[in-house]
Amino acid sequence: MNHLTLIEKLYKEREKIAMLTCYEASLAYVMSEAGLDALLVGDSLGMVVQGHQTTLPVTLEQMAYHTACVARAMTKPLLVVDLPFATYQTSPKEAFQNAAHLMQHGAHMVKLEGGSVMATTIEFLVERGIPVCGHIGLIPQSVFQLGGYRLQGKDSHTASQLLEDAKAIARAGASMIVLEAIPAKLAARITESVNIPTIGIGAGPYCSGQVLVMHDALGISTHTPKFAKNFLAENATILEAIKAYVSAVKAGTFPDSTHYWE
Ligand code: KIV
Repeated sequence: MNHLTLIEKLYKEREKIAMLTCYEASLAYVMSEAGLDALLVGDSLGMVVQGHQTTLPVTLEQMAYHTACVARAMTKPLLVVDLPFATYQTSPKEAFQNAAHLMQHGAHMVKLEGGSVMATTIEFLVERGIPVCGHIGLIPQSVFQLGGYRLQGKDSHTASQLLEDAKAIARAGASMIVLEAIPAKLAARITESVNIPTIGIGAGPYCSGQVLVMHDALGISTHTPKFAKNFLAENATILEAIKAYVSAVKAGTFPDSTHYWE
């Protein structure tokens, strides 16, 4: 079964999808052994690996390098890779060329941030054989426009906009959507309204799956967001900690009510 088919099967069978970010080979191997369904080479590497304040300085070549490191060592999971800032926004053709570069380094799917405005680009990539994951809510590449890393979709106007964005992304042919830092009720509504998996991070328990930045799941971040949980605190090894994360996501015990906004 190929990687994308596995995700579709989990979604159809309503089994929660467990995903973590990963940036390097040794942990990619451990994560594969721990039973994660998907790994994300996130541009969060700009913050947790490179020490920047935002994801904006990350380049396409850096993403390609980390993608290749992960791809060499991982086995079963789907490998999703972020298109970094300013590599896909100006035209679908630019997005295709840069997405193709990441696929040539081992990505199975690319992720890009933005709602309805990205629909044409998503359609262009999907029609040319590149699976796409959308990302809405708190979109870190727009941190300066959003005024910081904060909860999105709090009022009815922005909530409706996010719902329309998710529908547009699904209609355009995306395979998954990441929902970041939005109220759990809104994430539930979006999940019911689209026919592709939603992967939540700070979006409550009603999504089709969950993702965390690896450093947040292992308690080694300098700043711990509300939606993070340190799975290493109660486990002796990284392998056991990641297995505990996978089990908690599958069982629906993570996130609990301390990790999300109603
Ligand atoms: O870059 C990243 O790690 C992400 C996750 C926060 C979903 O986009």
